[in-house]
Amino acid sequence: MPFISLLYFRTAVVFLLVGIVMGLHMAATHDHSTLAAHAHVNLLGWVTPALFAGYFALNPAQAERWLAKLQYAVYVSGVALMGPMLYLMLRGRPELEPVVVFSSLLVFAGAILFAVIAFTSPARVALPRVAAE
Ligand code: HEM
Repeated sequence: MPFISLLYFRTAVVFLLVGIVMGLHMAATHDHSTLAAHAHVNLLGWVTPALFAGYFALNPAQAERWLAKLQYAVYVSGVALMGPMLYLMLRGRPELEPVVVFSSLLVFAGAILFAVIAFTSPARVALPRVAAE
């Protein structure tokens, strides 16, 4: 499995655990005010990165591009910032809204970079020529 796939999958599992803890907390306290944070951590943090992991596993040439590493850094930093900031904002910290907006834009930028990867081909790597005996 390409390194970026493994990294994406492990990152996704961490977000899954965080998302489930948020869901269990809502269920246990009957306070569903953080529903949007729970849903976004699960869908942007668990489901989407798991799909990215699958894409890069099936397209190893794409996984080797520097663009894939940049895409991972931008997308994951966006979700990692957005999850807790959205959670805190929904728990009564409205002043955090600009950070939530900024992190959402990072996630969007990560999605755009993924679209660029998906719609463009990696540069051809010149294979070494085997000298004729
Ligand atoms: C043990 C795991 C989980 C628990 C205990 C849990 C619990 C909850 C609770 C209590 C709500 C609020 C429902 C409401 O107020 O209407 C909720 C909403 C939601 N959850 Fe989870 N959840 C879990 C896992 C997941 C996972 C894995 C995903 C996605 C992959 C997910 C996606 C959502 C979504 C999208 C909503 C919003 C639904 C709506 O507004 O109609 N949840 N969850």
